[in-house]
Amino acid sequence: MTDAIRTDALGKTYPTGTVAVKDVTLTVRPGEIFGFLGPNGAGKTTTISMLTTVLRPTSGRAEVDGIDVARYPGRVRRRIGLVFQRSTADEVLTGRENLEVAAGLYGLSPAEARPRIRELLDHLDLGDAADRRVRGYSGGMRRRLEIAAGIVHSPRILFLDEPTLGLDPQGRAEFWEFVRDLRRRQELTVFLTTHYLDEADRLADRISIIDHGQLLTTGTPGELKDRLGGDLLVVRPARAGDGIVRVLESIPGIANVDPPAPDGAYRMHVARGESMVPSVVRACDAAGIELATVSARSPSLDDVFLTMTGREYRENADALENGHTHSP
Ligand SMILES: Nc1ncnc2c1ncn2[C@@H]1O[C@H](COP(=O)(O)OP(=O)(O)OP(=O)(O)O)[C@@H](O)[C@H]1O
Ligand SMILES: [Mg+2]
Repeated sequence: MTDAIRTDALGKTYPTGTVAVKDVTLTVRPGEIFGFLGPNGAGKTTTISMLTTVLRPTSGRAEVDGIDVARYPGRVRRRIGLVFQRSTADEVLTGRENLEVAAGLYGLSPAEARPRIRELLDHLDLGDAADRRVRGYSGGMRRRLEIAAGIVHSPRILFLDEPTLGLDPQGRAEFWEFVRDLRRRQELTVFLTTHYLDEADRLADRISIIDHGQLLTTGTPGELKDRLGGDLLVVRPARAGDGIVRVLESIPGIANVDPPAPDGAYRMHVARGESMVPSVVRACDAAGIELATVSARSPSLDDVFLTMTGREYRENADALENGHTHSP
């Protein structure tokens, strides 16, 4: 079967000299919900823009549904739907009218469009609101309407750039449920970007993590976490000091202790986290090191990011939510 998306050393350097995307190679299979994750300024929008023919790659290549995006942008465009970061619905039109406009833009005749729009409004739970102006829609309803507009022409691949940005956790969970439901109803591959690692962890079939334009890793969320191996033991001493690394590494079962995170906590990968806690407490006690906290847990995608980059993921996400623009 043709891959839904295939890129080979895809890259984009803007005329300003910014290398926004560098050597990105990935494959998305048909029918997957693929999460493209990364912090603020990582290169998500630039990548999605190249895949949707909005921007031309400056190096490498990409195929969407088997078609080269640089050579046949028109053919690619007919096969894809695209929903951008910002709302595009017309406030003074009704939901149905918005979909009629979208259908017209995609070249559907009114006779083709009418039944398709009715079906979509139904599937997306917008049937009752179809003939009301969009101005009165809730955030969730708008999102669904934008998606409907993006798939009115029955594309094979749907691209969503940060579709859950600004929604609360419940709204985000509902949105994903809705995307999964959509995929169950029709043959559709979904490629979406997000900076929420936790939601992609729970809901995407596979993900890639991108940082500073470079792909860090690709796989199912479970695979990425399993690659870290076992559990994560987090030890936070009461006071910063240099002796603790040596003490921890002397405990059987602890091999490598990473440098402390900004919160002062040391993380280490161990086979069975819970069972290590008493040894850590004993060893530190014997060495006269006072501990603030010791905890064990299974790794999260945040840990995957931290392990691969040496940086916390959250600080980036917080900056984004506080409305800061791209970090250097
Ligand atoms: N038109 C442009 N000209 C020059 N540089 C750009 C342009 N658009 C984006 N960049 C830069 O390219 C890099 C990647 O930006 P991009 O928008 O692709 O990231 P992103 O992952 O989508 O970020 P965000 O989470 O903020 O949406 C950033 O350093 C950004 O400042
Ligand atoms: Mg973006």
